[in-house]
Amino acid sequence: MQQDILEVLFTEEMIQDKVRELGAAISRDYTGKSPLFICILKGAVMFMADLAKRTDIPLEMDFMAISSYGDSTKSSGVVRILKDLDKEVEGRDLIIVEDIIDSGLTLSYLRNLLLQRNAKSIRIVTLFDKPEGRTVNISPNYFGFQVPNRFIVGYGLDYADKYRNLPYVGILRPEVYSH
Ligand code: PRP
Ligand code: MN
Ligand code: MG
Repeated sequence: MQQDILEVLFTEEMIQDKVRELGAAISRDYTGKSPLFICILKGAVMFMADLAKRTDIPLEMDFMAISSYGDSTKSSGVVRILKDLDKEVEGRDLIIVEDIIDSGLTLSYLRNLLLQRNAKSIRIVTLFDKPEGRTVNISPNYFGFQVPNRFIVGYGLDYADKYRNLPYVGILRPEVYSH
């Protein structure tokens, strides 16, 4: 797997340090509250698990599977719900947990949906933000790292469902997806 990675951008240690910082910030901001963390599967699975452990408040977790990329490196623009939440969100403080915001399509769709379901508040935490990719106006309340306009994999981020299990994040060799 390592041989498919052109360059490591974020080491495991860099990621874990950042996750700790984000958990501390959320813990401060949500003191006395019990927010519902919503993990956007599959990409956010690693981040959700680590962030929740670093957040010292009585949070709850739920999971939603959404896909806009399929096996491509470009967003299809069509957002599909593959698995909906189990919990009611009406009147709740929600924190949407994402691995990356690129075009912003996934999150703007999701935010509208959760507003329609009468959430009390909605904030977004993403580990990676790719502002250059944006086609809709949406920004995170908390982010870990801004990333360049390259296709990155690891720590939940996939290409054709692979590389999610890398503990670091790097740029995939273009040869891997060019043929
Ligand atoms: C990826 C990523 C985000 C979304 C970001 O998910 O995990 O959810 O795309 O892109 P956007 O801002 O352009 O919408 P993907 O659709 O690949 O599904 P996955 O999480 O199961 O890999
Ligand atoms: Mn995703
Ligand atoms: Mg994906």
